Amino acid sequence: MIILTGVTGHLGSSVLKHILKLVPPSEILVSLHNRLAREEIEKTRVQVRAGDYTDPSSLEDAFRGGDKLLIVSHPSFSDELRVTSHKNAIDAAVKAGVRHIYYTSLAFGQESKAAVMRAHLDTEAYLRSRGVTYTIVREGVYMESYPVFLGFFGAGHDEVIVPGDGGVAWAARDDLGEATARIIAGSGYEGETITLAGPEVYTLEQTTALISSILDREIRFSVVSRDEFVRRNSAHGDVARFWASTYPALEAGEASLVDPLLGAVLGRPPVSFEARLRELLENEAEPRKEISSWLDNGRGPAR
Ligand SMILES: NC(=O)c1ccc[n+]([C@@H]2O[C@H](COP(=O)([O-])OP(=O)(O)OC[C@H]3O[C@@H](n4cnc5c(N)ncnc54)[C@H](OP(=O)(O)O)[C@@H]3O)[C@@H](O)[C@H]2O)c1
Repeated sequence: MIILTGVTGHLGSSVLKHILKLVPPSEILVSLHNRLAREEIEKTRVQVRAGDYTDPSSLEDAFRGGDKLLIVSHPSFSDELRVTSHKNAIDAAVKAGVRHIYYTSLAFGQESKAAVMRAHLDTEAYLRSRGVTYTIVREGVYMESYPVFLGFFGAGHDEVIVPGDGGVAWAARDDLGEATARIIAGSGYEGETITLAGPEVYTLEQTTALISSILDREIRFSVVSRDEFVRRNSAHGDVARFWASTYPALEAGEASLVDPLLGAVLGRPPVSFEARLRELLENEAEPRKEISSWLDNGRGPAR
């Protein structure tokens, strides 16, 4: 039995969609946080149980009888909440007798300068120390997240303003979901930390130029100090300062690793950044949706 978490989210919904092409629904169990989605998920004929990362007993019940478990990282800006959630899930899985845990980490550096990577590194270390078979999947930066990485860049904006630049091995979210599904449905990668990222690297400046050429209008690109970036994005409160630490990490090349594994697992070339950007830029509402979904991380209503 394969247990999936996070299936109402961007990545997890893609994993569920793809794994259903590889494994019969009777072998899939969903640990569901969002009660409102139960009916929809049950239509796929997978088994559904309630599971909340902040409620360890719910996780033990949800994970019982599972063989493999995918832990999709908790979407929050609070390191403490994230790490506690992940530890709860890992501990519950061990207690429930899960044999192999897969954790979705992020494709930034091992000694990361980025605040977003802290909770992942702590979780990775905890998972390695628990004595259970694991696979850490460092998921590449989503192509769909380009508005957030371009300093909250929205439709109609004529300038990208960021506090640093560096290469990003952008990956299409659905490619990551499909590859993650294939890895879980298959075998191997036991005790490994793997990276799914690419197919190409674009710096933020090159990304801006690409958007400019797709939209056929000039978009300026500026690098400002970290304080200036935080001041300009003060509407987002503490999140702006947290997020600003991502850019020194990009400058250090932390997110610029293209790994051939993504294409190898997919058995085809991953979707190119230009093709995916063309699709995304057709929908003017998309950047706003992506930014608010990102800003809402962990702040959604209790369900
Ligand atoms: N690689 C990248 O470029 C990148 C970019 C952005 C974010 N991320 C991170 O990668 C992870 C997955 O991304 P995503 O885009 O799929 O995130 P997402 O769309 O926000 O999905 C997160 C999932 O976690 C579930 N969840 C929330 N609170 C939970 C709890 N207490 N217990 C159990 N499940 C809970 C959500 O369920 P509900 O429906 O109930 O909310 C949802 O299914 C997140 O941690 C996200 O922050 C990565």
